[in-house]
Amino acid sequence: MDQAVKLIGEKQIVPVIKLDEAAAAVPLACALTDGGLPVAEITFRTKAAAESIRRIREAYPDLICGAGTVVTLAQAREAKEAGARFLVCPGFSQEIVAYAQEQGLPVFPGCCTPTDLVKAVACGLQIVKFFPAKQYGGLDTIRALSAPFPGLSFMPTGGIHAENLREYLLNDRIYACGGSWMAPDSLIREGRFAEIEERTREAVRLAGQVQAERKARRKEAVS
Ligand code: 3PG
Repeated sequence: MDQAVKLIGEKQIVPVIKLDEAAAAVPLACALTDGGLPVAEITFRTKAAAESIRRIREAYPDLICGAGTVVTLAQAREAKEAGARFLVCPGFSQEIVAYAQEQGLPVFPGCCTPTDLVKAVACGLQIVKFFPAKQYGGLDTIRALSAPFPGLSFMPTGGIHAENLREYLLNDRIYACGGSWMAPDSLIREGRFAEIEERTREAVRLAGQVQAERKARRKEAVS
């Protein structure tokens, strides 16, 4: 299995990051790493995205740094050139998925409807983003979509935070949850990296707790 996909599945959390300035990239990577989560999705919502990915790859080569909000093929190429280890798209784009697969780059396209999911299955994908999770019905919709697509796992983002993370992660079709709650724009802009580190540590703790809970439930079910 690809190392990036593996680590995301183990940690089950993907911090979604928007950086206005590439100068914040390394302090941010440091906060995430020290918080126990060497994973980042740097979104192409700003011009600083590619340069930020480049800086993180250089300073923290072990951090799994991917690109988010990839909506054009040009951005996918730029992300790959900058060293992105995975691509996340808000919607399903056949050409971006094809490009990522050609490049051997994991890709998580946004899929919210059965039609999107049929396309994902046709491309051989096993994990898709579900975005915006809250507005598209959250876990209820994920449960309904899970039934006809038994081979798919979901990475919901949009409206996920420390208070509802547990509920999402208890569902065994959730591969990981993404969100900006650990490193919101405001904290990045104000340089409050210690706070980002703390929020990250708390998210990692919560995810670990849910994983232990699920393991105990599975054990109980077989005994
Ligand atoms: C994303 O791009 O995945 C979302 O904007 C993250 O959503 P959030 O800010 O509600 O966590």
